[in-house]
Amino acid sequence: MRELTPETITEAVVEQMASTSDPRLKEVMAAAVKHLHAFAREVELTPAEWLKGIEFMTAVGKMCTPERQEFILLSDTLGLSALVNGLHDRTALEEATHTSLLGPFFRENAPRLEAGAQIANKVTPGTEVALWGKVTNVRGEPLANAQVSVWQTGADGLYDIQVDASGTDYRGVFTTDTQGNYALRTVRPIGYSIPMDGPVGKLVNDQGRHGMRPAHIHFLVSAPGYRELVTALYVKGDAHIADDVVFGSSADLVAELKHNDPACPLKAVPSLRFDLALSREGVADKKTGRVGADPAAIFKAKANDAAPAAEPARKGVLGSLFGR
Ligand code: BEZ
Ligand code: FE
Repeated sequence: MRELTPETITEAVVEQMASTSDPRLKEVMAAAVKHLHAFAREVELTPAEWLKGIEFMTAVGKMCTPERQEFILLSDTLGLSALVNGLHDRTALEEATHTSLLGPFFRENAPRLEAGAQIANKVTPGTEVALWGKVTNVRGEPLANAQVSVWQTGADGLYDIQVDASGTDYRGVFTTDTQGNYALRTVRPIGYSIPMDGPVGKLVNDQGRHGMRPAHIHFLVSAPGYRELVTALYVKGDAHIADDVVFGSSADLVAELKHNDPACPLKAVPSLRFDLALSREGVADKKTGRVGADPAAIFKAKANDAAPAAEPARKGVLGSLFGR
């Protein structure tokens, strides 16, 4: 038996976990332990500080509901979601439009709408804009019948589910035409604050950060045979375009609000053009899953994990990710 010291304990833990049968779970957990231990050694973490950390993560967990995923928010504000997305983009067969955060307000149940429809239930005069563009493959060839799901906040800077979870607003699913075109009406997006009333907001405040996201519109685009794209457009000129609190905005995803753009198919309103290119789907894409998740789906997975033993075996979140 060896003596356990701050220098030897990491190896002891990794050795004990070496019996993990799933090779990817083994790899991920060994690296997680090595980095966590290195972090504790680097900052000389005290017991009181670690308890504070545990209290913080407990508070993050308690804040989670089917409508609110504070852990996603934590991952976002630490830049981890953006990093994981960037790594995911690198595994695509082809270099396509880059991913941006799905965010915690995506919903599966958005209404299907006709081309040109307005996604806001109520439009304040002077705020209407057209959103249009083309969905193509990476060679610029149009993808007909692609599904384009969009969602954004209203003029109050809130998503529909932050106001009332029973209905939908400011979201819709469109289908591209034979030339890969989509077009819709919406209201001008504005920058907004991430939810600051929880433990993550408190941390952001303690760090002297502003908590703002630049004006943006979310997209989830899919077409058979192509990798699903989760991204967003960011409106040029926004005060926070270069210091998004969740590191979603990026120079390649900026769109400019234009007045009287003759190319826009919807007339008489300012317009935003955003073209999207999809990568062909690779074998690995079938396993990697969506970039981000609907909080309600995460909640459902948790409920399944807690099911009594007599219930048929269900995969937990980690189990399904690591193929068990
Ligand atoms: C959003 O854009 O919806 C969002 C992303 C990350 C954190 C909070 C909100
Ligand atoms: Fe958003």
